[in-house]
Amino acid sequence: MKNTVTTLRKQKKEKNKITMLTCYDYSTAKLIEEAGIETVLVGDSLGQVVLGYENTISVTMEDMIHHAAAVSRGLKDTFLIVDMPFMSYQTSEYDALCNAGRLMKEGHANAVKLEGGVTRKRAIKAIVEAGIPVCAHIGLTPQSVHAMGGFKVAGKTEEAAQRLIEDAKAVQEAGAFMVVLECVPAKLAEYITDLLEIPTIGIGSGAACDGQVLVYQDMLGMFDDFVPKFVKHFANVGTQMKEAFRAYSDEVKAGTFPTEAHTYKVKEEVLEKLY
Ligand code: KIV
Repeated sequence: MKNTVTTLRKQKKEKNKITMLTCYDYSTAKLIEEAGIETVLVGDSLGQVVLGYENTISVTMEDMIHHAAAVSRGLKDTFLIVDMPFMSYQTSEYDALCNAGRLMKEGHANAVKLEGGVTRKRAIKAIVEAGIPVCAHIGLTPQSVHAMGGFKVAGKTEEAAQRLIEDAKAVQEAGAFMVVLECVPAKLAEYITDLLEIPTIGIGSGAACDGQVLVYQDMLGMFDDFVPKFVKHFANVGTQMKEAFRAYSDEVKAGTFPTEAHTYKVKEEVLEKLY
């Protein structure tokens, strides 16, 4: 059954946790779909884990569309959310609407995600009014890394916690169907989850959120440039990949790969005619 905004809302009501992973390519999308994960996020974290940038600032609309379209070809029932990259929605409501439209039309998204709370109310409202579901993202908002002075846990002081609650209320009021809470202290995330009617998806925000998201390279142990406290390695695929790359290299050097089983044959009489 296709996951939709309706089924996700129902999951919150029924206290059935929502699963989400990031994804950036077709073959991984197929594996995620087959594993029964309910939602996929083509995150602008692709800037770091796929493109090798230090942060998400340089990611473009073309990057997002290219990867989203590839992921969409690997999904059937999984609900596809695509990140709006830096400066694709902050400049004006018109830009936000046009770029959200491109992610739907060219990236085949089911919904878009954008960062910010109170300050993004108008952009969210404009996109939602055009019939495009919006997932908001508050707390640690990586596109504001320079304004925040680094990647920091959000809502640690009374004032910051109050601001975060206002952000959560604002995005719901603007029409967002879901909100990602990144690096929000667990008790505060629980308070916000109870306060809102829309589902909350936590990353580094404790178990009380309505669902969880992780960057797939993080949870598979494939990316070690920076490993946040909230990451759990559910497998060590990075180690396995390195071992396989080494084994391949050893066999090629030793001439033990390829063997006859990996090669194609041609009839002797065909060969004889060539020389
Ligand atoms: O870009 C991303 O992968 C994200 C998740 C970390 C929530 O926004």
